[in-house]
Amino acid sequence: MYRTHNCGELRIADVNKEVTLCGWVQRVRNLGGMTFTDLRDRYGITQLVFNIDTNKELCEQARKLGREFVIQAKGVVTERSSKNKDLATGEIEIIVKELNILNKSEIPPFTIEDNTDGGEDLLLKYRYLDIRRRPILKGLQLRNKMSFEVRRYLDGHSFMEVETPMLIKSTPEGARDYVVPSRIHHGEFYALPQSPQQYKQLLMVAGIDRYYQIVKCFRDEDLRADRQPEFTQIDCEMSFVEQEDVLQIFEGLAKHLFKTIRNIDMDFQFPRMVWKEAMEKYGSDKPDIRFGMTIHNITDVAKGHNFKVFDDTEYICSIAVEGAAGYTRKQIDELTEFVKRPQVGAKGLVYIKYNEDGTFKSSVDKFFNADDLKAIADKAEAKAGDLIFILCGKKLQVLNQMGVLRIEMGNRLNLRDKNKFAPLWVVDFPLFEWDDATQRFYAMHHPFTSPKKEDYDILETNPGEARANAYDLVINGIEIGGGSIRIHDSALQVRMFKLLGFTEEKAKAQFECLINAFKFGAPPHGGLAFGLDRWAALMNGSDSIKDVIAFPKNNAARDVMIDAPSAISPEQLDELSLTITPLKSNE
Ligand code: AMO
Repeated sequence: MYRTHNCGELRIADVNKEVTLCGWVQRVRNLGGMTFTDLRDRYGITQLVFNIDTNKELCEQARKLGREFVIQAKGVVTERSSKNKDLATGEIEIIVKELNILNKSEIPPFTIEDNTDGGEDLLLKYRYLDIRRRPILKGLQLRNKMSFEVRRYLDGHSFMEVETPMLIKSTPEGARDYVVPSRIHHGEFYALPQSPQQYKQLLMVAGIDRYYQIVKCFRDEDLRADRQPEFTQIDCEMSFVEQEDVLQIFEGLAKHLFKTIRNIDMDFQFPRMVWKEAMEKYGSDKPDIRFGMTIHNITDVAKGHNFKVFDDTEYICSIAVEGAAGYTRKQIDELTEFVKRPQVGAKGLVYIKYNEDGTFKSSVDKFFNADDLKAIADKAEAKAGDLIFILCGKKLQVLNQMGVLRIEMGNRLNLRDKNKFAPLWVVDFPLFEWDDATQRFYAMHHPFTSPKKEDYDILETNPGEARANAYDLVINGIEIGGGSIRIHDSALQVRMFKLLGFTEEKAKAQFECLINAFKFGAPPHGGLAFGLDRWAALMNGSDSIKDVIAFPKNNAARDVMIDAPSAISPEQLDELSLTITPLKSNE
């Protein structure tokens, strides 16, 4: 037997027991005649002690142990004289009687301790060493527990896990697909699923009634801290439900996870916010409601003062930053640069300082007198001592920009406490999204999302105003999940395709299977999918989802550990009848 216990389980009650432990040498310290070794495994760290007076040979052997050597130590559990409160095993140590080196290690490329010295690419290249560190291990443990609790909850509500294929048909709607060439079918490709959307709807036609799957999804899109090219969804679908049924069941799942993972009781109904309100008040369809600083429409009071920038614009909005009237020129310039970055896209930033003494100082003093500024401040719900920021432009664009500035101010003022969780449902999303570039409407969610019954009449006449039975679960400004009630009626689906500019042939080419299936008794159904990585990162207090993924890709979508993507051999290319053309110079 290699070991009697792991490195995290011995306690004061085990004193005098003869034990055998195995693990990795985290550190060796020599203090006078004693040598102390921290022995680490997945479960914890236990201190080993070697005494030069009682066993010189063994002590000398211990002094030669290098970092990350794999060893076996046999000895007796003893109470420590100086206890370590930070360690679960901190009250005991092992007086070692026998030491066996099971494997040596080269000096690791970074120190494998909670705080390390490696940069991100180095840590990712040696991810198998990084996982030995507590912070990364902790993320994986939390994720494991979450998946387990998801399964427990859904199983308890009659959901059945069904696996769906990874090699599927490419559909151009949505993000870019990852494609896989077929060897057998010359010139044809599979796509990796962006989500199992069509399959889960087919499972409803098949009568599965309640489906879920913890499933890998693949999207070739630009990466951010909360996006990976492959990520995991908790994907769900239910039959014979309306929106309310879906929200109830999955609010229950969210509460179950907060309780079991973070021991947080959420004994309240999650707030519901319609999309329009989220956009107008928070400048985002994923509002962070942990703090106020809401956006106000000040168009009517800001227009009409001969300030051309305002007079010629569609929408003018503000936020009031509490107690920030004392901001310096430099701080305001910095924020102006922030909103002018291409990622935000504002043309400029107007400010009004509402001083403690009730006077005003603004960047538009030439056009607005004190009364005008007071009228804006009132509309902006600002108080003396606040700093008001104003942006103007096309309504949705400027609201989005203000939303980004609001979050930035929330970060700067430490208003986004990681240990506070503020969930809400955002509901009543628009059915369509207009795209200026291609001059057509796109489905905001996907083409199978059902419109609200009340809006059936305006689908053709005023599509921009039509709302969908679609919803997102948002927590702390992060879109954790989203879904919709689907169209199960063929006639309505045909109408939708028409509105989305699909010809009958094009709809058939892309969705023939689903269209056919719906001819054979499709039940009313709906569902949603959560991003497991995002949710686990949030629960873990991480800023990046990489922290809860064992082997993530770097920001350039590369697995730097295993070195993927990589070129394939000419023989493999030949088999697939593929030719690689040289990169064009402007790519
Ligand atoms: P959606 O596209 O909104 O819906 O995706 C569901 C959830 O998946 C997560 N997510 C991601 N996480 C990490 N990296 C990514 N690149 C990434 N993309 C999405 C988000 C998101 O809320 N089939 C529909 C769901 C449905 O209608 O039932 C779908 O995929 O947390």
